Amino acid sequence: MTDSDIKKGLAGVVVDTTAISKVNPASNSLLYRGYPVQELAATQPFEAVAHLLWRGELPTDEELAELRALERAHRALEPEVKALIDLLPVQAHPMDEVRTAVSAIGATALAGSGNVLTAGGSVEQNLERSVRLFAQLPAIVAYGQRRRRGQELIEPRDDLDYSANFLWMTFGEDPDPVVVDAFNRSMILYAEHSFNASTFTARVVTSTQSDLYSAVTAAIGALKGPLHGGANEAVMHIFDEIGSSERVAAWLDDALANKRKIMGFGHRVYKNGDSRVPTMEAALVDLVEHYGRHDVMDLYSALENEFVARKGIYPNLDYPSGPAYNLIGFDTVTFTPLFVAARVVGWTAHILEQAASNALIRPLSSYSGPDERHVPGS
Ligand code: CMC
Repeated sequence: MTDSDIKKGLAGVVVDTTAISKVNPASNSLLYRGYPVQELAATQPFEAVAHLLWRGELPTDEELAELRALERAHRALEPEVKALIDLLPVQAHPMDEVRTAVSAIGATALAGSGNVLTAGGSVEQNLERSVRLFAQLPAIVAYGQRRRRGQELIEPRDDLDYSANFLWMTFGEDPDPVVVDAFNRSMILYAEHSFNASTFTARVVTSTQSDLYSAVTAAIGALKGPLHGGANEAVMHIFDEIGSSERVAAWLDDALANKRKIMGFGHRVYKNGDSRVPTMEAALVDLVEHYGRHDVMDLYSALENEFVARKGIYPNLDYPSGPAYNLIGFDTVTFTPLFVAARVVGWTAHILEQAASNALIRPLSSYSGPDERHVPGS
């Protein structure tokens, strides 16, 4: 093997099969268990898509009711988790807060569950753990934003579905249906995307027969980086820097002269446009209309048109979702935790799939250090 055989970043390498989602850059499509994601986003509540990703089929009415009952039963922030979050500095990045909270939930859930050989758990145990994490993350994310704003925790409401309750716990107001719908679509679009960096991280951890919480905690660490999930937060910083559509061209001249990456553009797999963007952009347009903020759309379109014309690199999902979350009222630092709350479904579906047909993931490397040498005097 020569160094030219190395696939840096595993680019183009197929490492396993998956039945969870199919990304097809040629036809610009993304299927969850066979269903186009844009059809799911237009018709389904997030809970139904979670069931689909975990179990392979859309739920019957009874199955959806069962999942919703379990999700509602675990929505409240556990007092121990809240106490732990409160120990962290209020300036801690919310991704660090979420990572710590998930790790603590795991330590509590696995306490007394035996040893490392049994902590991996059965399929049914892991499905239950997945639903619990799915149910608890909105409370963790919502409380994180409130804590940074010096506000009190808001208890969940049993009369609201997942997305509406998430907004309720964050803002403490009855959410408008237009906003709930846009938010629900974003959660569905973020839920799953095959072997991206964080999902692959979760699969690597699972491949050692470690437990689901360790895998999700590691995945959160991978998602935090600005080349992956952190891009939605970075998009908003760019919008803030530019300020208004008239300043786009001059800002871009400067950014490109300084070889800056423009966050929210480009993708390892999609080279002609991210299949999720049109659906999220439609949600952004609904929010722009709802809040009467056409200035946001002007800036959004101006930067997109200018950057695509100059570099031929297209927006990814983080580009429309950043300003959408900003309009809803989320703080910029909360954007990537929102991605966690959605992607936990995909991660846990992959953890179940990896565990069901496991092979330890252990690639090789080509050594490039010094030739063999010896310690003086040895
Ligand atoms: N701004 C400026 N130049 C770019 C960008 C960008 N956003 N994306 C790619 N390029 C250029 C890059 O500089 C390189 O140019 P050259 O060949 O002259 O050196 C060329 O395009 C290829 O880029 P690359 O980084 O080697 O391509 P990749 O497939 O490894 O990178 C990426 C994919 C997502 C890391 C990259 O496009 C990027 O850094 N984008 C900005 C961050 C971002 O938006 N990330 C979110 C990804 S989608 C959400 C998710 O799945 O998490």
